[in-house]
Amino acid sequence: MRIRSRAVVAVVGLLALAGCTGDAQPDPSAPGTASAGPDAPVRVSADGHVDNAYAGASMYVDADWTSNVLASAGEADDAVLAASMRAVSGEPTAVWLDRIQAVTGTATERGLEEHLDAAVAQASQDPDGEPVVVTLVVYDLPGRDCHALASSGELAATDADMARYRSEYIDVIADLLARDEYRVLRIVTVIEPDSLPNLVTNADDEACQAAAPYYREGVVYALDAFAPLEHVYAYLDAGHAGWLGWTDNAEAAVALFADVAGQTRAGLTTVDGFVTDVAGYTPLEEPFLEASDLVDGTPVSDASFYASNPDLDEAAWAADLHARVLAAGFPDTTGIVIDTSRNGWGGIGRPAAASSSTTLDTYVDESRVDRRVHRGAWCNPEGAGLGERPVAEPEGYPDAHLDAFMWVKPPGESDGSSRLVANDQGKGFDPMCDPTYTSDRLDGALTHALPDAPISGAWFPAQFAQLVANAYPAVGSEGGDGSSPDALAGSCSAVLTITDSWSSGYVADVTVTAGAPLSTWSVTLPPGTVLDDLWNGVEADGRITPLEWNATLDAGGTANFGYVGAGDTPAAGALACASA
Ligand code: GLC
Repeated sequence: MRIRSRAVVAVVGLLALAGCTGDAQPDPSAPGTASAGPDAPVRVSADGHVDNAYAGASMYVDADWTSNVLASAGEADDAVLAASMRAVSGEPTAVWLDRIQAVTGTATERGLEEHLDAAVAQASQDPDGEPVVVTLVVYDLPGRDCHALASSGELAATDADMARYRSEYIDVIADLLARDEYRVLRIVTVIEPDSLPNLVTNADDEACQAAAPYYREGVVYALDAFAPLEHVYAYLDAGHAGWLGWTDNAEAAVALFADVAGQTRAGLTTVDGFVTDVAGYTPLEEPFLEASDLVDGTPVSDASFYASNPDLDEAAWAADLHARVLAAGFPDTTGIVIDTSRNGWGGIGRPAAASSSTTLDTYVDESRVDRRVHRGAWCNPEGAGLGERPVAEPEGYPDAHLDAFMWVKPPGESDGSSRLVANDQGKGFDPMCDPTYTSDRLDGALTHALPDAPISGAWFPAQFAQLVANAYPAVGSEGGDGSSPDALAGSCSAVLTITDSWSSGYVADVTVTAGAPLSTWSVTLPPGTVLDDLWNGVEADGRITPLEWNATLDAGGTANFGYVGAGDTPAAGALACASA
């Protein structure tokens, strides 16, 4: 793994910019500009800025998402589905800072500090001593979600709200991340999903025109605020294949990314990578389709569904994007993360082979795994499934230069309400989320959005059940290396929940979930735990092992133990679990 020093790279970046004599567009022909390159000075330190933040790290498990999943599993009538839900309950997901109060926290919602404390606690539990990487979604720009209504936010496209974005939001996040105790973490920031992509394709939308200067200014401000922090990594959102894959969109997007990143103090090196398919549904791969394959003399990419877009899937877009951003002067360390939370498209409707039709549209429609009515159907679509489980350095897509598959959109959280629902977050109602709406944007088709959806970000049990049922790869089917909680290698995951606390103690409940059949398990308690009482387990050397009756678990099965602890209440979250 290459490890680069932010200080070294920043100097190179400034030189590169200076060479551009005021033109924010980098010179693509200048070799090595803005790049540390493989021979750059290597420095390994606890807080060194590494090439790929996900490599050699374990990913933060958000206990709030886990408890939503376990609650849905508890309510599921279907035992197999419930077991599958439990099997994925220890997967990592991103934390969305979708309003100022998501940073500060509320009486009922953990703020950023609590999440970071939980991540530090998770790191202290890691059996291999790996650092923990936390993925944060920075998502509160003035005039947010300018082309849709479902995720419009609390800040308007005005100078006054831009000032609030800087001082009440970005500065507060940056100050927290800068604390000494959080420098042991690696923090990936996903900068403002949909914002720059909207400026590429929706420039004729008045709301996007009003928001455009604030999007540019806000993204530059956020990048500059995080850049001095060596343990913080910045990834720009790069839409998805079905949005920016057309050549003219791709060119305009990369020019905009370079223009905006070029306005930061350290230039293009401020950006560590790009994230694609955030909250999207474009499949990682269309296994039976190639854009250039001919059907009756016409390329597949010219079928109605692809409308001459050469990038049929995220693997293609990631490779296309990577080549383009390097050509535009971004460092050769630039990596791509794909949000695979909901782009799985498994289940019974998934085609098992290419169609035998000789009619292009029929051939494509019968061969594609993406079973949406149209690639523009973005809101809670029927038929979607969980995608690849989060993993660092996924293999098999060398051209895409993947840093990770990550679940950026926490699966089970709605994209938007199917009708207007009153709320205090600024969320509107977008008819694209209404299953009875036919849209011009879908060539006059019904949206095929799931009915009865709550507002964006709210837990949507019916969608979660569908995503688990249609997972691809199916839950429990991955070979895996044991790093994923639902891999087959005898793994387990454990999640600590605090059910009561007082000044000198607390009650804790721990759910152990088996990723494969287990004959026994053991869970390591947070360091310094003092037990006043323990049930359904036995303690030795800070580890809990089961009793005879709760030792054996089927794949996806769960066991619980609980205890009363003395002293400070530990952070809820993942605990280290071993299968022996
Ligand atoms: C949406 C919502 C946001 C939520 C996020 C993750 O975009 O607008 O509030 O946090 O998705 O579910």
